[in-house]
Amino acid sequence: RAFLYRLWKGTVSSKMLNPRLQKAMRYYMSFNKHGVRFRRRREARRTGPELLCELRRRVRVRTLDGKEPPFSALGWRPLVPGVPLSQLHPRGLHSCAVVMSAGAILNSSLGEEIDSHDAVLRFNSAPTRGYEKDVGNKTTMRIINSQILANPSHHFIDSSLYKDVILVAWDPAPYSANLNLWYQKPDYNLFTPYIQHRRRNPTQPFYILHPKFIWQLWDIIQENTREKIQPNPPSSGFIGILIMMSLCREVHVYEYIPSVRQTELCHYHELYYDAACTLGAYHPLLYEKLLVQRLNMGTQADLHHKGKVVLPGFRTLRC
Ligand code: C5P
Repeated sequence: RAFLYRLWKGTVSSKMLNPRLQKAMRYYMSFNKHGVRFRRRREARRTGPELLCELRRRVRVRTLDGKEPPFSALGWRPLVPGVPLSQLHPRGLHSCAVVMSAGAILNSSLGEEIDSHDAVLRFNSAPTRGYEKDVGNKTTMRIINSQILANPSHHFIDSSLYKDVILVAWDPAPYSANLNLWYQKPDYNLFTPYIQHRRRNPTQPFYILHPKFIWQLWDIIQENTREKIQPNPPSSGFIGILIMMSLCREVHVYEYIPSVRQTELCHYHELYYDAACTLGAYHPLLYEKLLVQRLNMGTQADLHHKGKVVLPGFRTLRC
């Protein structure tokens, strides 16, 4: 529990993680699969409000528009949705919920509160059916990683989880964001199923995040963290929070920074235990959470009991 108290206060460091997680972090650090180049300037200890303005200044949600090689030559221009993600709700959404898939949301009874928001973001294959009391049943948008599209076990093409929602997919590209290299060697091939899905469901908004957007978020996390962070993309959760801060006037994030209900249960919908799901091994998850903790405008009681962080949308900030 000492760890959790320090996470709530923003005073944890990776040295307090269990030895197995620390070892995994060191492994990813030396492997540097995506060729990340650490630049020097880090430590910048910005306050919450300063950090918010920095995020607003720099974060631009970007998706593949089919205008750049190799996608331009592959005929992606007419394949991608005509309306950009940032224009889907031109006047902005008012209040939005970001529902993390953490085990800690079980027995929270947060479902009704979550559904009361104008838009609800969920991740990957996280279900609502059977869990409505705790997670609600409204889904406006789903962020999915490339494994969901590429791995047949997820039934991406016919599962109802991926119908009638805005879909936003991503895959770890090289840090250089060289689209040709990425296209030749994605982590999981999301391109073929994307094309197939677009052809079959041309009216469903479905985007692929631009690698530049993902690595821009990574740069911001590293620049605002004293320690060296894992040279891997931020988690879907962090990506989703920043997308919603761009689209909504107010963002309520559930069970990202864990509540008192936290255990090692990875997901609410799966009997699998691993502390890495909450604290990170591959993703720089602990550092993402420390950053989000600094931005929290909600109450400590909501953080402890609901696992809820409240963040302002970029358009409401006066910078
Ligand atoms: O595991 P998955 O990536 O599908 O979960 C969605 C997001 O929820 C993660 O990217 C992570 O940000 C967050 N999460 C968490 N703690 C967990 C499980 C998920 O913070 N135990």
